[in-house]
Amino acid sequence: MSTVGHDIKKAAETLRNGGLVAIPTETVYGLAANAFNPDAVARIFEVKKRPYFDPLIVHTHGLEEASGFLQRIPEKAEKLASAFWPGPLTLLLPKKDIIPDLVTAGMVRVAVRVPNHGMTDELLQSIDFPVVAPSANPFGYVSPTTSSHVQKQLGTELDYILDGGECHIGIESTIVGFDDEQTVIYRLGGLEKEQVESVIGPVKILPHSSSNPQAPGMLKSHYSPSKKLIMGEIDSLINQHSNKNFGILRFQSTTEMNGYKNQVILSEAGDLREAAKNLFAALRKLDDMNIELIIAEKAPNHGLGLAINDRLKRASV
Ligand code: TXA
Ligand code: MG
Repeated sequence: MSTVGHDIKKAAETLRNGGLVAIPTETVYGLAANAFNPDAVARIFEVKKRPYFDPLIVHTHGLEEASGFLQRIPEKAEKLASAFWPGPLTLLLPKKDIIPDLVTAGMVRVAVRVPNHGMTDELLQSIDFPVVAPSANPFGYVSPTTSSHVQKQLGTELDYILDGGECHIGIESTIVGFDDEQTVIYRLGGLEKEQVESVIGPVKILPHSSSNPQAPGMLKSHYSPSKKLIMGEIDSLINQHSNKNFGILRFQSTTEMNGYKNQVILSEAGDLREAAKNLFAALRKLDDMNIELIIAEKAPNHGLGLAINDRLKRASV
């Protein structure tokens, strides 16, 4: 098993030597490697069993460092970066040649983000290259929000796991790109659509597709537990599946539901941020229960509820 610890110097040294290190971020744990080292990047695809057509996000410690590997930073992107970096925002921007094609699956734009986590910030400051970091889970499975989630699934494959506690946002970054003048959300995530719009005006949300060449990682089926999951209006789903051994993922607590066993509540009070933070650990917990089906309640459709429903929907395909 890989070592888990708090040693930032060891993490830096491992990355310099072309190794793989799981790193904490405010969204989910990432699986990091030197973004300028194609061999190290290739190992990430192998360890995650990720198809090479699915590009990786490059993580740096600031806009200035990012400008070293970007062709240009449009005004809207700069506005978003100054408002939300460090934070759960990923920008799609035209790359320079120093970023290997393997990182972007041959596309001209690279995804960039500056994570908001003290230990990872210190790590990124102490190395002179950016890191690629997909979520530290096998391809298609639920993302990890603690170091033990990483250890459990990828423990034998990594060189080091930097433990930075539980991820406080708990859902992946919001990915934003620019198609001419139109701002497009490629993936809903930890930065609310409303927050993005407050800085640059109306945005379009890209619909998911199982064959969208622009954003291959936006696959319809993703973020899935191994148990079958269905989402929707909870009472009618329970009625329809009353003959099955199901578990329930509830958005919030309601007294009439308290009799059911095998249920996990995302937020007693129905707070969207708390629910997002707990979502992936809840899916893992239900996945480990002795049940055949997960019935999931939809979150309200605003703020982080959009990202929660997006993940549940894709987990249900
Ligand atoms: O919060 C996050 O973004 C986490 C943490 C670790 O930073 N990372 C993460 O990475 O979620 P990953 O690889 O699990 O998801 C990245 C998504 C994929 O859907 C991928 O297709 C998309 O970003 N992506 C990456 N580069 C892209 C590009 N150049 N163009 C379009 N989509 C891109
Ligand atoms: Mg992922």
